[in-house]
Amino acid sequence: MYPQLRMRRLRKQNIRPLVREAELSVNDLIFPIFVDETIDVRREIESMPSQFRFPLEDLRAEANEVLGLKIPAIILFGIPKKKDEMATSAYDSDGIVQRAIRSIRDEVGDNLVIIADLCLCEYMDHGHCGVVKDSEIQNDPTLDLLGRTAVTYAEAGADIVAPSGMMDGMVQAIRSALDDKSYSSIPIMSYAAKYASSFYSPFRDAAESRYSFGDRGTYQMDFGNSNEALREVELDLKEGADIVMVKPAMAYLDILCRVKEKFGVPTAAYNVSGEYSMVKAAALKGWIDERRVVEEMLLGIKRAGADMILTYFAKDVASELLNKT
Ligand code: PBG
Repeated sequence: MYPQLRMRRLRKQNIRPLVREAELSVNDLIFPIFVDETIDVRREIESMPSQFRFPLEDLRAEANEVLGLKIPAIILFGIPKKKDEMATSAYDSDGIVQRAIRSIRDEVGDNLVIIADLCLCEYMDHGHCGVVKDSEIQNDPTLDLLGRTAVTYAEAGADIVAPSGMMDGMVQAIRSALDDKSYSSIPIMSYAAKYASSFYSPFRDAAESRYSFGDRGTYQMDFGNSNEALREVELDLKEGADIVMVKPAMAYLDILCRVKEKFGVPTAAYNVSGEYSMVKAAALKGWIDERRVVEEMLLGIKRAGADMILTYFAKDVASELLNKT
């Protein structure tokens, strides 16, 4: 008790780093990359300043840049030329993501972990994450398509597949599809607790995955719920998930903390597009110090329990960290 005990003693500038509990490391970062089959030159995403959609030809250079910054992993999202009601471009072995995986692998070998986001919304003409019949998103018919897509990603050389569509049983379906084709060593990073969030809207510009009717409320979670997130994570682990994700991150730190405490498994957090855009917009107006806010935000996500963070700030943070050492 005061006056013997003074908490401020350890807050002296030179002592602070010694007693810091959480650290942000470049090894925690996963950088999202959008590859677009419909363009020839990279295009900046309007609602996400400094983020781009890349044509296939630019990916080698981008992968090298990420590698040069010592970021261990990327996650790929594809924008296909052709969208239809069965998402056929998603499981085309010559699809945009499959080609992207092959080209990056060829360029960087095993030096970058290539994660393939596994969802159908970018490939569906209606923009939903599953097969639609009578204006409803059908769970079970979607599972087969997810399994097929996963296999084509594994064949192309993906290190990890990351299902993000919130269909029931998706992890099990993908696991057994992979195992059937002898890809039992490919891990699944499941978007286990993914909320129906308005923080995704810049991503939907980026990935052209806006839906033409309804919303994602029949499959993504209600943001009033947290026990449900634990059930989702538990089920995905039972179905064979190797890494579980909480998404978005900032407004869901309590979920992240509970998931990590309860299961103690490798846990990822997605610092989503809207979180990026908000920080960028305020920084562009000169209202906040971007570098400091980003550090505080990402370290907060780490402190809450994330082992890894998917973030559009990955390259900025990595170059900061490189400059420090
Ligand atoms: C696709 C998907 C989304 C995001 C990742 N995968 C959007 C959505 O569910 O509508 C969002 C990522 C972000 O906002 O940065 N299912």
